[in-house]
Amino acid sequence: MLSASGPRAGTLSAMCGIIGYAGRPDAVAGISAGGHGALDVVMEGLRRLEYRGYDSAGVAVLTPLGIEYRKKSGKLANLVAELAAAPLTPATTGIGHTRWATHGGPTDENAHPHLADNGRLAVIHNGIIENFAELKAELLDAGAEFVSETDTEVAAALLASIYRGDGDADLAKSMQLACQQLEGAFTLLAVHTDSPGTVVAARRNSPLVVGLGEGENFLGSDVSGFIDFTRRAVELGQDQVVTITPDTVAITDFYGEPAVGTEFHVNWDAAAAEKGGYDSFMEKEINDQPQAVGDTLLGRSDVDGRLTLDELRVSPEELKNVNKIMVLACGTSAYAGQVAKYAIEHWCRLPVEVELSHEFRYRDPIVDSNTLVVAISQSGETMDTLMAVRYAKEQGAKILAICNTNGSTIPRESDAVLYTHAGPEIAVASTKAFLAQITAAYLLGLYLAQIRGNKFQGEIKDILADLAKVPDKIQQVLDNSGQIKELAQLMKDTRSVLFLGRHVGFPVAMEGALKLKELAYIHAEGFAAGELKHGPIALIEEGQPVFVVVPSPRGRDSLHAKVVSNIQEIRARGAKTIVIAEEGDDAVKAYAEHVFYVPETPTLLAPLLTTVPLQIFACELASAKGFDVDQPRNLAKSVTVE
Ligand code: G6P
Repeated sequence: MLSASGPRAGTLSAMCGIIGYAGRPDAVAGISAGGHGALDVVMEGLRRLEYRGYDSAGVAVLTPLGIEYRKKSGKLANLVAELAAAPLTPATTGIGHTRWATHGGPTDENAHPHLADNGRLAVIHNGIIENFAELKAELLDAGAEFVSETDTEVAAALLASIYRGDGDADLAKSMQLACQQLEGAFTLLAVHTDSPGTVVAARRNSPLVVGLGEGENFLGSDVSGFIDFTRRAVELGQDQVVTITPDTVAITDFYGEPAVGTEFHVNWDAAAAEKGGYDSFMEKEINDQPQAVGDTLLGRSDVDGRLTLDELRVSPEELKNVNKIMVLACGTSAYAGQVAKYAIEHWCRLPVEVELSHEFRYRDPIVDSNTLVVAISQSGETMDTLMAVRYAKEQGAKILAICNTNGSTIPRESDAVLYTHAGPEIAVASTKAFLAQITAAYLLGLYLAQIRGNKFQGEIKDILADLAKVPDKIQQVLDNSGQIKELAQLMKDTRSVLFLGRHVGFPVAMEGALKLKELAYIHAEGFAAGELKHGPIALIEEGQPVFVVVPSPRGRDSLHAKVVSNIQEIRARGAKTIVIAEEGDDAVKAYAEHVFYVPETPTLLAPLLTTVPLQIFACELASAKGFDVDQPRNLAKSVTVE
């Protein structure tokens, strides 16, 4: 459920936290006499924003002597220690960043801020700049030097070069011109020694809000960054640049045309603000999913438009020669692997086995140098999966990791890596990481199809175009979730729920059941719909709720018809059928107590939509029972024991 004013657009994305501050010397809010001014405000903001990213952090302040900065990999505490060891000069203007790595691992060098213009410009960034490879090549040609692997440093160098050229040494104008060249998703904040007391920021597809104070103004990824200092906020529109000083806030579009933001009062407490106004991280993360999928798709092509991986420590030739894929994972990640199997086998004509990591090691698995092991792990630290990876490596297999945590152990020990860009997942039970894993697995399938020549470039492009439409479709599912929430409330005393699916709907059914077990502690089972008659149908009695994930009627005819007959079979035995179907599938209505429709999408991509109502159902039902959906009993986010 949403709190009074509900979440606001632009506060939902998670991946890096950003804070900016400009204050008059006499007006540094909330800071006791003798405090440090900008640094205290920025550090407090970072503490509040740490949930958005915690693999490195950094700050920069504008002092009369120039820009001073500190940055450190690891949690914010490492930066605090660094600042204690090497204090900064007091200042009234500053920026800060807490990172969840996308481009470049979580090292000190890759942490933000990134400097350019001979140390006179400092930039921080949240998002993914899609065309950074092209821009970097141009900037290198023009003599720029880079010390990190990040797309952010490319943005800083671009901004600096424009500042010294067409930007006429005007920071806001230079930011506008730079943004005209940037593609992808970004929130950028910049300070320059020529503009004391000023922070310039821009946003596209990434969040940014302004906090209005008295003699001081703030910028934040979300209001939690400045909630200790002010509750007056301004929401920026898409593609806007904002310049804050202690007394002014000026907004334009990327072409310098004046624009206005929408002012609102923040009536959340600090804890609700971190959750973007939702009651739980689980709810927020379910709602983050359009962004998680969208971001995972961003920045995947090289200058020639061909798909690339994030890290590749084996030759494409070796990958081309694999004759079997073995997916290893646990929990929700293993279900993502099961979805991937359908797509990869179909696109690449390669056999794909999916196995739970802990089972894999204790039999005699057949893996060799022609096997590609795909390890899927949100955390990158799950001990069962790590041990399975090490074992497979010993047998000579190539390892590719699909992981949400840049620089974690599993990707470090792998030969190739594809990162999901879901941002930190705080709730223990996985939601947005699952959809991001499925998305990344599709990208992997298309990448393999590309290097193996199973598909023409045009066919790959068509599938990517279908994938690009998915985030908006997920949003539609979220926008229409009222009915499923009502049903969850009504079913809060249910003691058992079954889930049926066929083809890609089968792992979705199992994930739906897992969510209900994890969050609501209800007995739930997911079955392959065709298996029903071989046993589970004996469980059906009068009133037994059964969710059925129905494939598209536009896909293979037989598939849809078979599932519809399964529904009839259980209904005839008294089951209460709750159907997830594609819009326009009127045929299912006659057999369902409740139907929830999701938008049309190609069959293989459907799990990205059909999973969402099941997550919402579990979350709402568990909340109705009064359970803590973020920290369910007995579970841990990352299980680092075998
Ligand atoms: C734990 C979590 C699950 C997760 C599983 C795998 O059991 O509670 O939500 O799916 O680990 O975690 P991983 O980080 O490897 O994806």
